[in-house]
Amino acid sequence: MGPVVLPLDWQQLSPPGQTVGVDIEPSQYRDAWAQAVERSNINLHFGVADAYRLPFAANTFDAAFLHNVLSHLRRPLEVLKGIYQLLRPSAVIGISHPDFSGQLISPADSLLERDHELYWRLVEHNGGNPAIGKHQRGLLHDAGFVRVEAVAKYSTVGAQDGVRMRAMHGGRLFGGSAIAQQMIDLGWTDRSELEQIIDAWRRWSEQPGAFMANATVTAVGWKE
Ligand SMILES: C[S@@+](CC[C@H](N)C(=O)[O-])C[C@H]1O[C@@H](n2cnc3c(N)ncnc32)[C@H](O)[C@@H]1O
Repeated sequence: MGPVVLPLDWQQLSPPGQTVGVDIEPSQYRDAWAQAVERSNINLHFGVADAYRLPFAANTFDAAFLHNVLSHLRRPLEVLKGIYQLLRPSAVIGISHPDFSGQLISPADSLLERDHELYWRLVEHNGGNPAIGKHQRGLLHDAGFVRVEAVAKYSTVGAQDGVRMRAMHGGRLFGGSAIAQQMIDLGWTDRSELEQIIDAWRRWSEQPGAFMANATVTAVGWKE
C-alpha cells in the first residue's frame, strides 16, 4: 500500500463523493498532488494540515483512513477523538500501522539487531511508538468507535528481488539520510558504525536463506 495511492484508489470506489488527503509535511502533499493530477481525479483534494488541528467542520465525513501516521504521534488517542468529531453518524474509520515488535529476520546478525534498535529508539525519541499496531483496536474503542475489529498481517521479504531491495533500503536509510544524521547528532552512533550496518545488510542479502517479515495491524470501527 503506497503512501498516497490509497486515497486515490479509495476515491475511485466512491466517484460521486469527495476525498481529502492531508499530511503535515508539504513534500508528501506535493507527491500526492502529482499522482492525483496524473489520474485526473477531480474529486480529490490534498492539503497540508496538522492531525491535531484538522481544518474541517464536525459531522463532515462518511469515512476516514489513517496509514502509518499514528505511530509517529505523541498523542494518537487525541487525534482519533478529533477525527471522531469530524465523522457523521454511521461513518467508518480504518487505521493501518506497523508493529515492529513482531519483526522476523534470518540469518540473525548483531548489526541488523542494532539497526532495529536504533530505528526503534529514534521513533520513540521523536514521540512515536514503533509498536503501536497491536494497540489500534483499543485506541479506536477508547476514541468512541464501536464494533471495532483488528487483524494483523505480515509483509514478507523472502525472495531474491525483495531481499536485494531491503538491503538497498538499509543502505539509503543509514547512508546519508536525515534519520542517520539525527542519530549521529544525538550521539547514539557514528558514521563508521552506520557503514558497518550497511555492510551487514549487503552480506545478509547475499545469504541464500535471507528472510525478513514485519507485522502490520489494520483496525476498523464505526461511529454509532
Ligand atoms: C511514515 S510516514 C507515512 C506517510 C503516509 N501516510 C504513508 O502511509 O506512507 C509518516 C507521516 O506522518 C506525517 N505526520 C507526522 N506528524 C503529523 C501530524 N501531526 N499531522 C499530520 N501528519 C503528520 C509525516 O509528515 C509523514 O508523512
